[in-house]
Amino acid sequence: MNYENILVELENSIQVITINRPSKLNALNKATIEELSHVLVAADKEASVRAVIITGAGEKAFVAGADISEFSDFSVEEGKNLSKKGHDQLFSRIDQMKTPVIAAVNGFALGGGLELAMAAHVRIFSENARVGLPETSLGVIPGYGGTQRLAQIAGKGRAMQMVLSAEMIDAATALNYGITNKVVPLEELMEAAKKLAKKIIKNSPMAIAKAIQCINANYTSGVDGLAFEVNAFGDCFGTHDFKEGTSAFLEKRKADF
Ligand code: COA
Repeated sequence: MNYENILVELENSIQVITINRPSKLNALNKATIEELSHVLVAADKEASVRAVIITGAGEKAFVAGADISEFSDFSVEEGKNLSKKGHDQLFSRIDQMKTPVIAAVNGFALGGGLELAMAAHVRIFSENARVGLPETSLGVIPGYGGTQRLAQIAGKGRAMQMVLSAEMIDAATALNYGITNKVVPLEELMEAAKKLAKKIIKNSPMAIAKAIQCINANYTSGVDGLAFEVNAFGDCFGTHDFKEGTSAFLEKRKADF
């Protein structure tokens, strides 16, 4: 697939995906969602990609939301399909990836932009980040997982406040709410994201994939997270990574995963 709306680079096993529609503040149109889905599905199958960083082009926006111009005349059925397709094609897929995904939020992350960042496993914000779920101001609600993931990440009260008021919050408030793990100056954002990615990829990719699944299990209805953990923990013992990790410790050397 030829990518027209994203830039993709792979360096030292870390794939950086840059959403590249700066004139539209990187708003997620259908084509961009398809490209992101395509590149992420491929990355998750590719052993040479050990971590993914998603960011936005320019200094103003990560993603200013779903592209409003594409759905303003949609019917009820089309609205449902838009949301369902978004979940299936991109947002839930990111959440469930085996490869860890870091969102490096470099400015506005609104609506689908914040939902994209929240679908990632970890978030780092630049100081100029301004984020929110403004959909109620457009007569709609967040439809790419925002009502669920914001409550999971920041708590129900804060999610209620942000969604009902449609307000934007700054990076310091997002840090205080737990929406981001870290805030850094804009010029240090990619370095901070790469530093974290490098730390993550020193560890076993098998164990990372299982840890992501287990943490997510707690947020999956009908799944007993602790029982899921017991099984996943046991499964680790049958793997090469477990043998390598434990042997390396006992032999006082670095594990080679
Ligand atoms: N969908 C489609 N186009 C968008 C967009 C979106 N979500 N967000 C920004 N754009 C476009 C603007 O229409 C404008 O395009 P134009 O130059 O062709 O008119 C361009 O990006 C620049 O945006 P602009 O509004 O002029 O920048 P600003 O600095 O004045 O305001 C924002 C920045 C982020 C406050 C403002 O763009 C905004 O409110 N965007 C929509 C946010 C939103 O509601 N997102 C949720 C969607 S469900």
